[in-house]
Amino acid sequence: MISTRVLFSALAAAASFSTATAFTGRASWDSLGTTPCVPACPASDFRVALPSDLFPGGESCCHFVQATYQGTNVVVQFTDLFLAGAGSQNISLSDQAFAVLAPLEVGTIFPVDWIFVS
Ligand SMILES: *[C@@H]1O[C@H](CO)[C@@H](O)[C@H](O)[C@H]1NC(C)=O
Repeated sequence: MISTRVLFSALAAAASFSTATAFTGRASWDSLGTTPCVPACPASDFRVALPSDLFPGGESCCHFVQATYQGTNVVVQFTDLFLAGAGSQNISLSDQAFAVLAPLEVGTIFPVDWIFVS
């Protein structure tokens, strides 16, 4: 059985040179804005913070990500680094984006698939 650590390393490595890698994690909506991309992305209501350790140099900042939960998609801009998500594939959506996938009262949803789109 492949250890989670090995698998995670492979995914992290793939993320640095591929924009087609699919990830799966938990999505929340309350942790945006603590660590904006540098330089900052254009203002958008549909935003996502992605695990900071997957993009240590801010790679792919301001690119677009499609997140899918139970067959519903939302396209969001990668505008922030999610420090609390380091070591996972969990993401934090803006409240407007989360609300497309589930009621805000739910708080967190899993599994959410996410992938970069052009
Ligand atoms: C990521 O989400 C999973 C599933 O909900 C959870 O068990 C795990 O603790 C989360 N990891 C981080 C770093 O938040």
